[in-house]
Amino acid sequence: MATLSYSTPPMWLGVTIAVGAVFMPGSLMLSMTSLRERLRYVILAGYIWMGVFFIAFFFAFIQMMISLLPLEIHSSWMLWATLVISIWSLRINILGPQIVNHKLKGPDFLRGLRVLQISDLHVGMPNLRQTWLQTVVDRIKTAAPDLVMITGDLVDAPFDETSPLLDPLSQITAPKFYVTGNHEYIRGGDWEARLHNLGFHVLHNSHEVIERNSEKLLIAGVPDQRVNGFRTNLESNPDKALKTSENVGYKILLAHEPSSVFDLTVEKCDLLLSGHTHGGQIFPFGIFVRMQQPVVSGFKKINGINVFAHQGTGFWGPPMRWFTRCEIVVFEFI
Ligand SMILES: [Fe+2]
Repeated sequence: MATLSYSTPPMWLGVTIAVGAVFMPGSLMLSMTSLRERLRYVILAGYIWMGVFFIAFFFAFIQMMISLLPLEIHSSWMLWATLVISIWSLRINILGPQIVNHKLKGPDFLRGLRVLQISDLHVGMPNLRQTWLQTVVDRIKTAAPDLVMITGDLVDAPFDETSPLLDPLSQITAPKFYVTGNHEYIRGGDWEARLHNLGFHVLHNSHEVIERNSEKLLIAGVPDQRVNGFRTNLESNPDKALKTSENVGYKILLAHEPSSVFDLTVEKCDLLLSGHTHGGQIFPFGIFVRMQQPVVSGFKKINGINVFAHQGTGFWGPPMRWFTRCEIVVFEFI
């Protein structure tokens, strides 16, 4: 009878697992306490360790698969692969979010309209502070869009600490729209009022109508799909948001999660702009995101609706990305 043989895992992997087992949950717990500001860089180190651990785990899995084959490959490659990919995935902290352009087919009256979307900024994470947000706003100004949309997970820290960090958003002069993500509810606070004060149209199961070339564009928005898990008196209702008696030529729905498309039972829209997925953030995490969401990044036609999943302008947890990007998306109607 054939027997399977496994090579002994290297010592460094055992140490990584042991240290990570304490450090990762420890930094997560610290981020929820009043020590979070003073221990910002300890928490950041914990998040980086989390990313390195995830990448190491992925390569250890690959090595386990290789060990089932009749090949003699020394397992030290895992250490080098983890090191190289970890450093590579940290480069987003130097590059910042990149402008990504998409052309969109639409009705004649929208031709030339440029809509910019940012999502999942997670302002308040240890290295996503006001200076970083100012860089995002400067890039938005350079892109000079006609409309700006934020599709949730704008913040990721307690309200009193994070609210002042959002001041640069007031510098955006184009009409701007905002819907909440799940992290706004996890952290608590009246973010909708704060964004309203920063000059945003806050869309909470509601819409705005914009006239262009004598025709009408409807922009609707819903709070995050899971809002009623946090606040019992709130709901996410895209049918209500889109309902109108006006004659509109094109409808855009803003919803944090792509799966909101399945909440549409009566109304329809032409384009649904969402985020939440981070594109998986670190490969191959997108596989698990795909189990929850109908699209992980980019466009997908679902029930006749063009659903777009933004990869995120910031990130959550590890300040790292692999096979995904931090993006500021500009749609130009053609
Ligand atoms: Fe997010």
